[in-house]
Amino acid sequence: MIDPFGRRVSYLRLSVTDRCDLRCTYCMAEDTEFLPKADVLGLEELARLSAVFIGLGVRKLRLTGGEPLVRRDIMRLIGALGAHVASGQLEELTLTTNGTQLSHHAQGLAQAGIRRINVSLDSLDPALFHQITRRGELAPVLAGIRAAKAAGLAVKINTVVMGGVNDQEIDRLIAWCGEEGHDLSLIEAMPLGAFSTGPAFQPLPLSVLRGRLAQRWSFAATDYSSGGPARYVNILQTGRRLGFITPLSHGFCESCNRVRVSCTGRLFLCLGHETGTDLRQPLRASASDEPLREAIRQAIGHKPEGHDFVARRANRQPLARTMNHTGG
Ligand code: GTP
Ligand code: 5AD
Ligand code: SF4
Repeated sequence: MIDPFGRRVSYLRLSVTDRCDLRCTYCMAEDTEFLPKADVLGLEELARLSAVFIGLGVRKLRLTGGEPLVRRDIMRLIGALGAHVASGQLEELTLTTNGTQLSHHAQGLAQAGIRRINVSLDSLDPALFHQITRRGELAPVLAGIRAAKAAGLAVKINTVVMGGVNDQEIDRLIAWCGEEGHDLSLIEAMPLGAFSTGPAFQPLPLSVLRGRLAQRWSFAATDYSSGGPARYVNILQTGRRLGFITPLSHGFCESCNRVRVSCTGRLFLCLGHETGTDLRQPLRASASDEPLREAIRQAIGHKPEGHDFVARRANRQPLARTMNHTGG
């Protein structure tokens, strides 16, 4: 799958549910209404869709949400997808999780062929964690991360940085990740959803934070890439990597290799655009995969060059679509 700008699409981010047990302020409104079950793809449909994408050249598949581990029987899907890793067709199967259910699933994830996962964690302070997530308890998340490590999974921590909210926590997170043996990625909050013009969206370019962090930590350049948008440095004091995901202050669209499918089967060619292609209809209309393949090929031919988050934030025109629909 090659897009009009010559970029090869080999990374699929598949959202398996819009539901989540947390309500992070930058991701969802407090009173979010979730989709009716009939709109959401079934587990067999998700498995079939994934197989078609793998046939078309996807080599990295990341499950997202909402929170993927709150979906009932999700381990059945993960087991089915693990077969593509075992056969060598898929280089990497992974997921991004909030960690609340991780203690129960860590072993199963490792058994399915998952080698590393990303866990969202914006604060190590229980009260602030509760405030940012509007309800979460920190202890089960930390227990989940420990369980993942014990099961042999590498864990990368994802922290969305909000000026005046958790930017003072980053030193502590870096030190903790060093002690626990995790890499850390810092993320600039993107304006997705009508609520995202609110106070959680204090502009704090990560370039500014990086300057601040560099006074305490020594960074060494590395050209390591995980295949995602993060640019990494090595931290000499901890021996761990620190990634910067900077959609607003420093774009990375020119090397974009990914597409997203929402839990309703909408294919989004770019996180920063409303336009999508319905794959649920061809998926449900025919037992043959060919109409589905054709719909995907057509859509890839229209992948936009990049997002326009900077203008959207300046004009206070966030995307209507929220992160829990598209999965980050
Ligand atoms: P790695 O495989 O570990 O590199 O993962 P990743 O960084 O691709 O995935 P993860 O789910 O951890 O995503 C972290 C965050 O990066 C997402 O929540 C998004 O905020 C951001 N992100 C990932 N891909 C894109 C992208 O294509 N465009 C934009 N604008 N942001 C992205
Ligand atoms: N901007 C940036 N990152 C976000 N995430 C959720 N909403 C946003 C947003 N508006 C992050 C989560 C998770 C990843 C999948 O997406 O914290 O780490
Ligand atoms: Fe790709 Fe769009 Fe993300 Fe840019 S914003 S990296 S084009 S998905």
